[in-house]
Amino acid sequence: MTQVTNESAAQKQVFLADVVQGLSQPIKKLQCKYFYDERGSQLFDQICQLDEYYLTRTEQSIMDQFAGEIADQLGIGVMLVEFGSGSSTKTQVLLRHLNQPVAYVPLDISEEHLLKTAEGLRIQFPDIEILPVVADFTKGFTLPVSKKRPSHAAVFFPGSTIGNFEPDAAKSTLTLIAELLGQDGGLLIGIDLQKDPSIIHAAYNDASGVTEQFNLNLLHRVNNELGADFDIKQFEHLANYNEQLGRIEIYVVSKCNQVVTLGEHTFTFKTNERIFTEYSHKYTIEGFAKLAADSGFVLRKHWTDENQMFAVLHLVHQPIKN
Ligand SMILES: C[S@@+](CC[C@H](N)C(=O)[O-])C[C@H]1O[C@@H](n2cnc3c(N)ncnc32)[C@H](O)[C@@H]1O
Repeated sequence: MTQVTNESAAQKQVFLADVVQGLSQPIKKLQCKYFYDERGSQLFDQICQLDEYYLTRTEQSIMDQFAGEIADQLGIGVMLVEFGSGSSTKTQVLLRHLNQPVAYVPLDISEEHLLKTAEGLRIQFPDIEILPVVADFTKGFTLPVSKKRPSHAAVFFPGSTIGNFEPDAAKSTLTLIAELLGQDGGLLIGIDLQKDPSIIHAAYNDASGVTEQFNLNLLHRVNNELGADFDIKQFEHLANYNEQLGRIEIYVVSKCNQVVTLGEHTFTFKTNERIFTEYSHKYTIEGFAKLAADSGFVLRKHWTDENQMFAVLHLVHQPIKN
């Protein structure tokens, strides 16, 4: 069973409205969730293989090394819900170690990629019910009902995806997770840690240009799905680390003065004008625990690699009672 929460014509209207609204701002912006159509998901998988992109292999190594301990923390008979599951690569070691898991719910906005991944997982894990949900995790959605009753649900949110949100939006997403989980629900989340800025900068400016393709894929999507006429060759990728705010800031930059048409709308670009596309916030463990505390989460345990590049945190929802 697959749960699709939005009908696609309605989704397209929302995409159009978001693009028009974003490009009409004094500082133009496009939301990073729109990176992920099938091509975007494939490009992201290629990014994960890059030498410069330490995030994926480091988080995977933490999962591989501590899967047993992490599974113990998550408990028996769980329904594991993964936010932004992508190719569910890091989940597999967890599914192998969990104690009598009842169901796995991969949740992603990138429908085609999610459904293909779910098919593969059904073959690999025939004893775990795989219940994909196509949804935007920043909006409300309901959990699917599994055949066997789980003892509880836990959310897995790897990939440093929470880092794409500014602090207030991150808190809203954590609050949504808290509401989904209820009292004592567990959240296992991957965060990228603050480190030498040159290492971070290289991760988002790879020599082979895959990150540039991924970033520009947003313009391809706007052309292909909404009928805009972006001349993609006339735009380029820019990613800078903002040391003060501890975050990567990613833009698409216009190489010349130009006009882009989208239906009845026209958008003018000056040479070097930017479209903001994504942040990736880098945290300390203490800083993230403080942020999550505002949504009622308490840090139970964390695991990191020997170079302290990345961390996986287990937090439990225990709101303060008035
Ligand atoms: C940084 S990738 C991480 C993928 C995978 N979890 C990993 O750790 O490699 C972010 C994933 O979240 C999904 N995603 C981004 N924004 C989303 C949203 N608002 N709702 C649902 N999925 C979203 C993307 O399609 C993508 O698969």
